[in-house]
Amino acid sequence: MFLKISAKFAAHTGDLALARIIAIANQKGGVGKTTTAVNLGASLAASEQRTLVIDCDPQGNTTSALGFPKDPARRTLYQTLILDEPIERVTLDAQVEGLDLIPSDRNLVGAAVELVGMENREYRLKAAIAGITDKYNYILIDCPPALDLLTLNALAACDSVLVPIQCEYLALEGVSELLDTLMRLRRTINPSLAIEGILLTMYDDRTTLSKQVAADLRSFFGTQVFETVIPRNVRLAEAPSHGMPVMFYDIHSKGAESYIQLAKEVIVNAQKRVGKGTERADQGSGTQSAAAATAGASSSVSTPTTGNNVAPTGGGGTSGSAGSGSE
Ligand SMILES: Nc1ncnc2c1ncn2[C@@H]1O[C@H](COP(=O)(O)OP(=O)(O)OP(=O)(O)O)[C@@H](O)[C@H]1O
Ligand SMILES: [Mg+2]
Repeated sequence: MFLKISAKFAAHTGDLALARIIAIANQKGGVGKTTTAVNLGASLAASEQRTLVIDCDPQGNTTSALGFPKDPARRTLYQTLILDEPIERVTLDAQVEGLDLIPSDRNLVGAAVELVGMENREYRLKAAIAGITDKYNYILIDCPPALDLLTLNALAACDSVLVPIQCEYLALEGVSELLDTLMRLRRTINPSLAIEGILLTMYDDRTTLSKQVAADLRSFFGTQVFETVIPRNVRLAEAPSHGMPVMFYDIHSKGAESYIQLAKEVIVNAQKRVGKGTERADQGSGTQSAAAATAGASSSVSTPTTGNNVAPTGGGGTSGSAGSGSE
């Protein structure tokens, strides 16, 4: 069965020769990585962008949220990463038109360990997907909540990183570590690694804390923060148990609207890059260090660490386009 959505959200982007590969990463758990992989993936597909979502997390939450309950017989990313199974043979039709899935399951825990002794251990995913990047407009990689070899494989394979940050107390905890890691990776395994954007998730505009955290993040990361804000929305939490993206569960929910809006923003940013022949201004020019960002961020901060000038200066954020509260 195909789920199909009206083409009214479709956006013409022209022909992209190779997919834009976006890793969705934050080593902090429960910040909305999987929710973003599933719902941004579905929203991009609904906007007529051929999209592949790769579940790179042994928890397999993206796999189940896209309608594939646990099945020990199913081939997963494990077979490709460790046993060299061609990636086409593990790719599933995600039952949403234009959306494919490379599933995961608990075996991937073993992959994180088995990779350690393998040659080119950080580049296994990059090599595996090299032959299919011309089949898609976007490839989204959902990372586990760890800076482990699975995440490193994702960060080596991608063009950019989308960092979801939950609008709550301690929001910046770990962000400086992640940004420091990204900086190191630019010097080592992926020199062209860019930041796709920082995404504010689970925003609750009824709380002062959410507003304060969002204001802090925008003042430190500026235009690198997506204008779209993902509100806290119960439909987003319910949809995975029905095995479908939120837009097929409740198209009128704030959650569905916000991810459709995010997809538009991602597409527009891609069009701007193609137009200008540039990346987003996220490399090299930064003067605001990750440590400074962390150290300065009022009450939401806990652990300043060393910085490497990876956080960009920004022109100041604009207010979010979603997050108005009700379901
Ligand atoms: N905007 C939202 N509104 C309400 N609930 C949300 C929202 N985003 C995510 N959730 C819920 O919060 C929980 C954590 O979200 P999610 O699984 O996307 O985070 P994650 O970063 O992938 O977690 P992990 O680090 O364990 O992989 C899930 O139960 C999810 O349904
Ligand atoms: Mg997850």
